[in-house]
Amino acid sequence: MGDQVKLSADGADLEYPVLKGSVGPEVIDIRKLYGQTGKFTFDPGFTSTASCESALTYIDGGEGVLLHRGYPIGQLAESSSFMEVSYLLLNGELPSQDELSNFEYTISRHTMIHEQLRHFYQGFRRDAHPMAIMCGIVGALSAFYHDSTDITDPEQRKIASHRLIAKMPTIAAAAYKYSVGQPMLYPDNNLSYTGNFLRMTFGVPAEEYEVIPAVEKAMDRIFILHADHEQNASTSTVRLAGSSGANPFACIAAGIACLWGPAHGGANEACLNMLREIGTPDRIPHYIERAKDKNDPFRLMGFGHRVYKNYDPRATVMQSTVREVFEALNVQDPLFETAMRLEEIALNDPYFIEKKLFPNVDFYSGVVLSAIGFPTDMFTVLFALARTVGWVAQWNEMISDPGQRIGRPRQLYTGPTQRDYVPLSQR
Ligand code: CMC
Repeated sequence: MGDQVKLSADGADLEYPVLKGSVGPEVIDIRKLYGQTGKFTFDPGFTSTASCESALTYIDGGEGVLLHRGYPIGQLAESSSFMEVSYLLLNGELPSQDELSNFEYTISRHTMIHEQLRHFYQGFRRDAHPMAIMCGIVGALSAFYHDSTDITDPEQRKIASHRLIAKMPTIAAAAYKYSVGQPMLYPDNNLSYTGNFLRMTFGVPAEEYEVIPAVEKAMDRIFILHADHEQNASTSTVRLAGSSGANPFACIAAGIACLWGPAHGGANEACLNMLREIGTPDRIPHYIERAKDKNDPFRLMGFGHRVYKNYDPRATVMQSTVREVFEALNVQDPLFETAMRLEEIALNDPYFIEKKLFPNVDFYSGVVLSAIGFPTDMFTVLFALARTVGWVAQWNEMISDPGQRIGRPRQLYTGPTQRDYVPLSQR
């Protein structure tokens, strides 16, 4: 018998098993708690709750460690490719050369979207936020690909996963093209996953588009940095939506909706807007004071994380990617200087030190994406594009688990107790 945790409730001593993972905090298995005590646990925001078992991604927030299937994010960002990381997340192991080539070929054969789906874009206002378009179009995929919505069939799940990963760049680029009033481009499968996305975004039919290798590499690395991140809000949303048996396209649309929020994926957009508002380093102290003021809703965007209480390892890679892109494109952005100065000031401020608030992945991503040429409202779309692989891998892991049940949290009810209906005339 493994370790047990004792709980005294209403005079009875109860024991609950402690489950061990391969690394990281152990968990107390309280699945029988309600049946035995009639009590629930209370953990709004899930700060002490492991919602599932997973073998995909591990984070040690205290040490600033992020592993995908055991491989450190720094090594993957340095030496791998987004396609290889996608294969790794989906299949558990790094691919052989043949496996990788087959995977890339398969993904490239799903990059087109149904021609009718293109008409959906016309229904949106020209100034629609591209994340609004993403929610709609990705949800609408369920209406087009009926042959991959039977979630009990592993082959259909695989095809749906490949379709989602492959079509996301086409859908995202089309959202951008629609907003700038340019014709949408069809995919070019001679290019890499990332090169193809850059061409569909920045290319025009009238001219040959040349992919700049340094930008392609930087973009691919940014995709790797966003590929998966354990049970974050959007991933948990995808799992919860999927737990009811909903089809994968609808589940990913739910994930996109959750990612949009400024506390999650929307932070990269909010962060660049904040840096623009701050403008020059001399204005930083004013904003630091605002971030510390409890009566001011302003927060330093790109700072702080629920899990990382140390430097986010993705932020380290992102910072060096900024330099590489600036060098390749021969650009200088004074906002990068402002960002670095802001980081330095915040990291030396007792408020941020005590609360363990460090730059997260979004702090530098806006600067680099802006240098590549993306408007701010596309930043979260790029996050969604990359995170799609994590979402589908997590969704697959959940559906493959024979013990999987619908996610159904309970509550601490504080509303009125039962009372009799009062007719309108007597109120
Ligand atoms: N600026 C100022 N104060 C902050 C910040 C910030 N960015 N982040 C947290 N705090 C304070 C917060 O006010 C609280 O103070 P107190 O204990 O006195 O009430 C304390 O730090 C703990 O914060 P919390 O909101 O309880 O922490 P959380 O784990 O619920 O929230 C977070 C995490 C990421 C939502 C939050 O740090 C935040 O809003 N950061 C800015 C948005 C951001 O950059 N989000 C991107 C996250 S990384 C990408 C992703 O995974 O989506």
